Amino acid sequence: MSSHDAPIIPQGNLPRHIAIIMDGNGRWAEKRFMPRAFGHQAGVKTVRKTVECCANKGIEVLTLFAFSSENWRRPEQEVSLLMSLFMSTLQREIDKLDRNNIRLRFIGDQTAFPEKLQQKMAEGEAQTQSNTALTLVIAANYGGHWDMTQACQQIHNKIMAGELANQPITPQLIGQYLSTADLPEPDLFIRTGGEQRVSNFMLWQLAYTELYFTPTLWPDFDQEVLEQAIASFKGRQRRFGHTGEQILNQSVSL
Ligand code: IPE
Ligand code: IPE
Ligand code: MG
Repeated sequence: MSSHDAPIIPQGNLPRHIAIIMDGNGRWAEKRFMPRAFGHQAGVKTVRKTVECCANKGIEVLTLFAFSSENWRRPEQEVSLLMSLFMSTLQREIDKLDRNNIRLRFIGDQTAFPEKLQQKMAEGEAQTQSNTALTLVIAANYGGHWDMTQACQQIHNKIMAGELANQPITPQLIGQYLSTADLPEPDLFIRTGGEQRVSNFMLWQLAYTELYFTPTLWPDFDQEVLEQAIASFKGRQRRFGHTGEQILNQSVSL
């Protein structure tokens, strides 16, 4: 779906889709004179609490940026720690997610992951695919550039196969080939850890997302900070290019 035809969420309502850049694990650990791994372990606990909290609030989709396509640039030891933490977390949590009616989804280029991890990810998606409460999207080896590139590649392949003959390339068409094609656009973006940048996360999808930055480091993120972000979201007027007056008079359909 493109931002042009996104259904409007009236001011004061809950976001349908929250997307979070979980940043600050390393600094959280360093402040405690502990190795960065300690921060990543603490970060997993925050993931569990945040998922629970969003499910309780009736949020439809929660996307968590777990590993970017640029995070391979980190020291090998940190990358392999993150891979094993990813694996052990999935092994421990998939059944719990399933019992709580949560649907698990992954976005990102999975082919770079160890075979066993890819299998576990596929298993988790298959096991939870018909669940109807929160959809938990984990962005792993994800990058906005990757997402748009793979969409273009798929469109190119279809054109070469004669399947999209005479169909113009439109934002709607591109949106159908992004990894998030079946999900609503994020309404609220949160980045913890104090940096005010997007770091190659959901570049296309964030076109009209409300942005919220907090200095809170990810392991310290909790219900209170989440509620502050949601309160900030509720107080904003989303205009999608219209004037404020048009939105107040509801003279436009969005
Ligand atoms: C985010 O925390 C987790 C991942 C990128 C995997 P960081 O590891 O980036 O923590 P800081 O930014 O170094 O504090
Ligand atoms: C973004 O955080 C990626 C994730 C949280 C997974 P980074 O810590 O990698 O971002 P930069 O490098 O500071 O932009
Ligand atoms: Mg960081």
